[in-house]
Amino acid sequence: MPTINEILQTMDYGPAPESTKEAQAWLDQHGRRFGLFIDNAWVDGAETFASNNPADGSELAQVTQATGDDVTRAVEAARRAQPGWVAMGGHGRAKVMYAIARLLQRHARLFAVLETLDNGKTIRETRDADLPLAARHFYHHAGWAQLQSEEFADYRAVGVVGQIVPWNFPVLMLAWKIAPALAAGNTIVFKPAEYTSLTSLLFAEICQQAGVPAGVVNIVTGDGRVGEAIVNHPGIDKLAFTGSTEVGRIICKATAGSGKKLSLELGGKSPFIVFDDADLDAAVEGLVDSIWFNQGQVCCAGSRLLVQESIYDRFIAKVKTRMQNLRVGSPLDKSNDIGALVDPVQQQRIHGLVEAARAEGCEIWQPAREAPVAGSWYLPTLITGASTSAAVAQTEIFGPVLVAMSFRTPGEAVQLANNTVYGLAACVWSESISLALDVAPQIKAGVVWINTANQFDAACGFGGYKESGFGREGGKEGMYEYLTPLSEDARPSAPVIAAVGSTRAEVRQSEGSNPFAVDRTAKLYIGGKQARPDGAYSRAIHGANGAFLADIGEGNRKDIRNAVEAAHKAAGWSKATAHNRAQVLYYIAENLAVRAEEFAARLAAMTGVRDPQREVAASIERLFYWAAWADKYDGQAHQPPMHGITVALNEPVGVIGVICPNENPLLGFISLVAPALALGNRVVAVPSEAHPLSALDLYQVLDTSDLPGGALNIVTGSADELARTLATHGDVDAVWRHDGSAEGCAEVERLSSETLKRTWVGGGKGRDWFDAKQACGRTVLQHASQVKNVWIPYGV
Ligand code: NAI
Repeated sequence: MPTINEILQTMDYGPAPESTKEAQAWLDQHGRRFGLFIDNAWVDGAETFASNNPADGSELAQVTQATGDDVTRAVEAARRAQPGWVAMGGHGRAKVMYAIARLLQRHARLFAVLETLDNGKTIRETRDADLPLAARHFYHHAGWAQLQSEEFADYRAVGVVGQIVPWNFPVLMLAWKIAPALAAGNTIVFKPAEYTSLTSLLFAEICQQAGVPAGVVNIVTGDGRVGEAIVNHPGIDKLAFTGSTEVGRIICKATAGSGKKLSLELGGKSPFIVFDDADLDAAVEGLVDSIWFNQGQVCCAGSRLLVQESIYDRFIAKVKTRMQNLRVGSPLDKSNDIGALVDPVQQQRIHGLVEAARAEGCEIWQPAREAPVAGSWYLPTLITGASTSAAVAQTEIFGPVLVAMSFRTPGEAVQLANNTVYGLAACVWSESISLALDVAPQIKAGVVWINTANQFDAACGFGGYKESGFGREGGKEGMYEYLTPLSEDARPSAPVIAAVGSTRAEVRQSEGSNPFAVDRTAKLYIGGKQARPDGAYSRAIHGANGAFLADIGEGNRKDIRNAVEAAHKAAGWSKATAHNRAQVLYYIAENLAVRAEEFAARLAAMTGVRDPQREVAASIERLFYWAAWADKYDGQAHQPPMHGITVALNEPVGVIGVICPNENPLLGFISLVAPALALGNRVVAVPSEAHPLSALDLYQVLDTSDLPGGALNIVTGSADELARTLATHGDVDAVWRHDGSAEGCAEVERLSSETLKRTWVGGGKGRDWFDAKQACGRTVLQHASQVKNVWIPYGV
């Protein structure tokens, strides 16, 4: 015991341990052995494994390793329960979810202590962050259930959803997954991470008390094998996963072509940018919340510190002083800042990465203090002197390890911030609102916190760009992840368009009567210019009556690469004002209208359609439709429980590869390309393989409509081959395929999983392109955009 004199000298905190009595009693009450929660009953399993307290290595309980049959039982229970859960109506579901929220609050302390015991994170965080946020999530989504019939009238629940979460925020991740799924009317098979199952099992009891009907929420525990069984189960309609990018990729590949809806929240290497005019002391506190919150085991941790050169030394000195004062120790002590890592495996992983950096010549700095001996711990660590390409600067360390670098200009800060395969979050610290709001949209990340860090709320979407995954959790956009548009159910089977043969000679003969006929080979359209195909091959296109119509360029990999490069160079299109983009689309419509008869004749010749004017007129209207949306698909200003606002911006996805349908070749082309352009994307389009000519006739329309070169590139040829190249291209951000080829769509999904590209595919079904419900609306807008939430607190 220190003397009073010593306490007055050090001003150190005294011990403030949290009691574990209730949590231990709850574990005892269950005989420290847990089964699975299926169909509102506890199911014993033959195989169990230990769930340990990482702060001291002691065993807390035995948890069941579910089998494939258990997963099937859970999926079947969820399937049986789903119609009833929907039939309860929005208000019925809202009442149950409200009860869950109340019960979470009532048992918040038990949850918080159990979470701390099982995970090793500090009680300060479980008590003050994880539990209040989890309860808020259920309250907020009870509201969405209540409003569902009004706000999501054109949607239905997806069905049975499989949800797999990691160990870093066990109960909070559970809430993020389960609350929106329940609100929308889905039923659930949920798997917690193997290290941290206990709070989800306690949650099962909450479901029982709240009156969640049997089978609506099923909880199956176990390791990655159980996750795999859920992913591959044919009875699952949608998967939601949070975890490592590596497993995310596996899941993306496994679900390709299955028709399962998918959302992925994956890793990050988020930048924490400090400009020279920032409030440095506030920024240091923000940094503590950003990288040392939850021992750095946070997907959006600010693990890359980027500091403006002029203040670099001063800021680093302040950071070291603060690190020196971080209290590392028992997570149950209310005055400790840093607890234990989830498992010794993570400790070894972090140790390996830090020691590799040391061996490469980086400087490693840790505060002069000892970590506790038992359990798995890692001291807060600062790495300097790493190159931008070093493993510690690029790999997600997932521990209390910060890598610091300097920059000179805002432009360099943005470039360094974006120098990562990830795009989950970023922090920007500056007292200049103009600078901060200039930088925020330039960072490729789903969340940007200005002068704050690691803020979350149920009303504000969270999710990544690039290899940090796709889909959002929270906010209205999070609800759409658990809903299917009713129009999807009405989609027809895609007609098979057979290629037809005929001879050039016949055409020459028929053209013989036209004294002005000039032999013409349609080229590709790249960077605003007509370009010869790289391979110098052409393919013959025939009309509905089998007659030869024209030779077109046979595009290959090189042509796609050129087109993608041209699209990247046309970055100005994404920065053009929405008003300007709308003007260009209207202008395209105007110029198309001038040549309507010519396009109608082309359509008639290609497809034999009896009323080609109808398709041309619909195409002109569709251009007007998407031009109208260009400056109306606004974001939102959320008001989370914070003194400030969160601005949700709908940003373009980037470069989108679009494989267009064969049916209605002009209308189908415009219905996909126009919305992508309207929202500021740049497009590499592959027109209908069978009937490409009307898209090629557009070149001259585009040339006279002020569309900047490279914003839209058109490559003709084999849809399969060109789709393959787009899906595997590292600089394409999304691929859409709607030509009715089930196999082709599956292949696009499978190949895109390698780089975690977003995909939008029609599978083996087509769309009625004349039907506005199927071809227009919010779903298309959502595919053409990604949401960035910028958090802007008020005050000084
Ligand atoms: P993980 O991604 O392997 O585990 C997350 C969840 O996926 C767990 O529930 C696990 O059982 C399940 N899972 C594992 N393999 C699966 C498969 N093939 N199919 C379906 N589900 C599967 O993460 P892990 O191994 O716990 O951590 C390893 C590293 O991953 C960490 O060091 C960190 O870098 C990263 N990570 C990132 C997270 C994030 O939120 N960004 C969360 C957890 C880990």
